[in-house]
Amino acid sequence: MTGMRMVVDSTEFVSRAENWILQAVSDVLAKRSDCYLMLAGGGTPLPVYRALARRDLPWARIVCLFGDERCVPPDDTQSNYGSITQALFPLGIPPDVRIFRMRGEEEDREDAALQYGAIMPDRVDVLLLGIGEDGHTASLFPGSAALEETDRKVMPAVGAKPPPHRLTITPPVILSAHEILVMVEGSDKSAAVHRALEEGDVPASIAKSGDWLMDKAAAGMLHAGV
Ligand code: 6PG
Repeated sequence: MTGMRMVVDSTEFVSRAENWILQAVSDVLAKRSDCYLMLAGGGTPLPVYRALARRDLPWARIVCLFGDERCVPPDDTQSNYGSITQALFPLGIPPDVRIFRMRGEEEDREDAALQYGAIMPDRVDVLLLGIGEDGHTASLFPGSAALEETDRKVMPAVGAKPPPHRLTITPPVILSAHEILVMVEGSDKSAAVHRALEEGDVPASIAKSGDWLMDKAAAGMLHAGV
């Protein structure tokens, strides 16, 4: 991981994210038969996924995973799986795509987390993340017990961002990922970016060694040369 800090005009954000992802997947597939791509939830990456839908990715060699999920059915409008697959595969998920969703709708969330952790690779090849205004990433929210987890790869979590109940990857998954892209837009995230990259006191700090793509507004509180 190179720890790049990319600050771009908002008009370039989607294309820079799209090209970073294409390059990262291509680099993995130059060495390995499959690429484990872990997708970020929330709204920021959706235009990037829609742009990737128009590119010719080698989906048969990509295993799609999710960094977190809301505890709702997959057809719920709040489902990360639902919104991400709609953006990536607007005509439906092709049969050769291997995509594994977190079963957030299960009543037994501990078991759902355990099941998902069991299908995950030792290390994710390409991990995509966003951050919230409070500095959360995936569904690792400030004060969450999941922040202290050192063994399990996935855990149930409760967050301030609705819906509250979620499943999330844990810090070991982030820390072991081969490549990370954190995508952040908007001035409402600038304090969280500053705290993650310069203070190190919010959950998104866990992804500090990854590449960060920010528009100028999100990077507005960073000191020069971060
Ligand atoms: C989720 C995401 C969450 C998201 C941030 C940013 O399920 O909501 O995993 O971590 O990445 O909250 O969300 P926005 O991109 O919508 O601002």
